[in-house]
Amino acid sequence: MKQKILVTGGTGYIGSHTVVELQQAGYEVVIIDNLSNSNIEVLDGIEQITGIRPVFVEGDCTDIATLRKLFENNPGIKGIINFAASKAVGESVQKPLLYYRNNLNTLINLLELMPEFGVKGIVFSSSCTVYGEPDVNPIDETAPIKPATSPYGNTKQISEEIITDYIASGAPIKSIILRYFNPVGAHPSALIGELPLGVPQNLIPYLTQTAAGIRKELTVFGDDYNTPDGSCIRDFIDVVDLAKAHVIAMSRMLDGEDKDSIEIFNLGTGRGLSVLELIESFERSTGVKVPHRIGPRRAGDIEKIWAEPTKANTVLGWTAQVPIDDTMRNAWAWQQHLAEKNK
Ligand code: UD1
Repeated sequence: MKQKILVTGGTGYIGSHTVVELQQAGYEVVIIDNLSNSNIEVLDGIEQITGIRPVFVEGDCTDIATLRKLFENNPGIKGIINFAASKAVGESVQKPLLYYRNNLNTLINLLELMPEFGVKGIVFSSSCTVYGEPDVNPIDETAPIKPATSPYGNTKQISEEIITDYIASGAPIKSIILRYFNPVGAHPSALIGELPLGVPQNLIPYLTQTAAGIRKELTVFGDDYNTPDGSCIRDFIDVVDLAKAHVIAMSRMLDGEDKDSIEIFNLGTGRGLSVLELIESFERSTGVKVPHRIGPRRAGDIEKIWAEPTKANTVLGWTAQVPIDDTMRNAWAWQQHLAEKNK
């Protein structure tokens, strides 16, 4: 029998790609999303790719009554993947309470309801931001957690602690915490991808919008860092690779016997790429030039960080597969698909 999984934030960027992979792996998916940073049409893209339209509940996970009703109306949910969260670092500095409310209340509500409805496991979306500026790269899961530099980052640290404390108290659930590095790209079908609202804050949507002529030029935030070409270094991980890791994590929690109740994994490629190298990769793989100039550093940016993904490679049996040039081509195809739709 197909196991039923609740995906909160399932119409969002990483959520939608994960729903596709879950359905293709035979799971039955229920999505809850308040559409605050996504669009209902994402369901059409998911259906076109998989042939299955997931059950969709429009609602806010910060409201426990909404969630309780969802569990009552959809009996038999065995696992949760929690993507429902706010994620803009800058906005979190301006609106800290919004971030604490959305990100923490959602998690607490889900954890509280899990035992009541017999839900065995929860996969939690964390971030490499918990490591701050690393002392060494690549960075593994045993590295110290550094003081958060934004309310957004703090919600990720606190969330990890909440899950840990809850499981330590004897709660009958399991959790896998996934620390993402920099998710980029889109589904190779170009039917789903990232849908930034307003002016994008993240590198790739800004880059693809610039390549499409929507933005005049991309500003590279700083070329005087202590890196080979002076721009910041990140571990850019393809969103489909990332989505697949969630399916493996879910199966490990639901089907694996005698596994630890809580496990933490880095999800990255293990390779650091600079911002300038990423622009080069985009231009090389698509043949499209990206007008760009060097600007000042962005406050709060980390100089360089990339993952030591050996634990995920060996324990989960998951390895990032998609070459960066393919990821860039997929991001561009998605941008073109959006332009076509908006004509
Ligand atoms: C940030 C967060 C991360 C979060 C992610 C999702 C930190 C340290 N990182 O990642 O936790 O999950 O956002 O929103 O809190 N850049 C440019 N020009 C641009 C945009 C970006 O040069 O127009 C550069 C940045 O300076 C950075 C790199 O590109 O060096 C990546 O930036 P971005 O895509 O915003 O992601 P992070 O800041 O790494």
